[in-house]
Amino acid sequence: MQKLKQKILSEGRVIGNSVLKVDSFLNHQIDPKFMLEMGNELAARFAGEGITRILTVEASGIAVALTTGLSLGVPVVFAKKGRASTQNNNIYSARIYSFTRQEAVDIFVSDKFLGPRDTVLIVDDFLAHGEALRGLLELVDRAGARLAGAGIVIEKVFQGGGAALRERGVRIESLAAIKSMSEECVEFI
Ligand code: G4P
Repeated sequence: MQKLKQKILSEGRVIGNSVLKVDSFLNHQIDPKFMLEMGNELAARFAGEGITRILTVEASGIAVALTTGLSLGVPVVFAKKGRASTQNNNIYSARIYSFTRQEAVDIFVSDKFLGPRDTVLIVDDFLAHGEALRGLLELVDRAGARLAGAGIVIEKVFQGGGAALRERGVRIESLAAIKSMSEECVEFI
């Protein structure tokens, strides 16, 4: 998506060769109109797949998941992190490890909002090592739902998560795929 690449080049900042800060429109401040354009684009790429639910994980995936769900006209479910005391036992859970934060975290979804009748599109803001996506796939599996694929805003191809999951047969669509980056330049595929 050309406009996203341009926004990354003009507003993004690379920190230490592996972290891209895009706080001005994706991860801290949100540009609603642009978020809607990205949701429409992801929805168009998966049109005709019979998607019944969008699945993401809190927090930064929610905005683009919402606009994708709006475009497809289906509910959006976000996996929660940790486990609230108000949560009953009817949940699917998975453990993911965040390389960025260097910690393991449990994510979960209630069985009220994901089940065997669903065809799921996973949506997230970043794909790096692929841990979040792997955990979300596990939730889809546990729920007995069908996976249509994953729609990602920014894939950092050089961190390998996308390749490993595509090898497992997962269809992944990224709006911007970064081959390499440094403080001086960002190269897209
Ligand atoms: P992975 O899920 O693909 O394995 O990625 P990793 O463990 O490296 O990333 C953990 C968290 O950092 C995720 O957010 C992910 O979206 C975010 N992240 C990864 N790479 C970048 C990057 O280059 N720039 C920015 N801004 N974020 C990145 P999270 O821990 O789930 O937190 P949240 O921000 O969604 O709440």
